[in-house]
Amino acid sequence: MADGDGNINSKNYYLDKPAANEGYHMKGLGNLDWGMKDRLSRMFRPDTGHTVMLAFDHGYIMGSTSGLERLDIVVPRLASHVDVLMGTRGAIRTCVPPTFNKAVALRCSAGSSVLDEDMSHEVVGVDIDDAIRMNASAMAIQTFIGAPGEKSSIDNLCRTIDAGNRYGIPTLGVVAVGKQMERTTKYFLLATRMVAEFGAHIVKTYYCEDFDKVVAACPVPIVMAGGKKLPENEALTLTYRAIQGGAAGVDMGRNIFQADDPPAMVQAVAKVVHEGFTDKQAFEYYQHIHNGGAS
Ligand code: 5RP
Repeated sequence: MADGDGNINSKNYYLDKPAANEGYHMKGLGNLDWGMKDRLSRMFRPDTGHTVMLAFDHGYIMGSTSGLERLDIVVPRLASHVDVLMGTRGAIRTCVPPTFNKAVALRCSAGSSVLDEDMSHEVVGVDIDDAIRMNASAMAIQTFIGAPGEKSSIDNLCRTIDAGNRYGIPTLGVVAVGKQMERTTKYFLLATRMVAEFGAHIVKTYYCEDFDKVVAACPVPIVMAGGKKLPENEALTLTYRAIQGGAAGVDMGRNIFQADDPPAMVQAVAKVVHEGFTDKQAFEYYQHIHNGGAS
């Protein structure tokens, strides 16, 4: 096994060269079976290769979250504007009508709350049978690289990947940043690559400096998590920078459901992700919709 000492700092990311994708519209996923590709195509639009995922799985660690007090009201209002519903089985089964015909990224890791000093010790909280029953297009597992629960989180990820590979369900590996960790390029280069090397089909992580290098060095598509609530224009700038940096989309929660106008915000995000809007154009669009304009 290569030792950790004496490695030369990476320097060539070939940023001018697009990744090979074996004739499929998603990076690194061209060798997958038909069913996997079908599920991934429900998440990542074949015409744009991008996705807007609405994240409302916050309750699995923080309970009732501001803006998500009533899942049964908030989520249905936004569902028609996104490509993927990212939630727990409890939230989806109880609060989301099965009529939106949207892909589901099912939150499958479980086990810690925000009350826990160390949230890095999760378990696999949903077995493959129920993911199939939920018609999940992907199973989401949190990894805690660099935290005390690193090894057990990697075990959760690998077991989910193996189960998903048996039945053709992709795994979304989520890069968490523990309370003691820094959101540095170096950390995200390490964590995203590890998650992809373990076999995750999609990697979700946060934006960072040199994000394009993180994307280039990850052999599967990266989706950017929105993170804490920002002013709407800044959240659209973050979205724009992520897409410009090569992200295959966003998985956004608080910056949508805590926005002054969540339906307007999710539509503005989609304009950046799928229609090439700049952040400025998208913010103007947000204001237009917010002020009662036609979408
Ligand atoms: C919550 C999650 C969310 O899916 C992820 O963080 C995206 O939500 P937000 O945009 O609010 O950060 O993993 O635990």
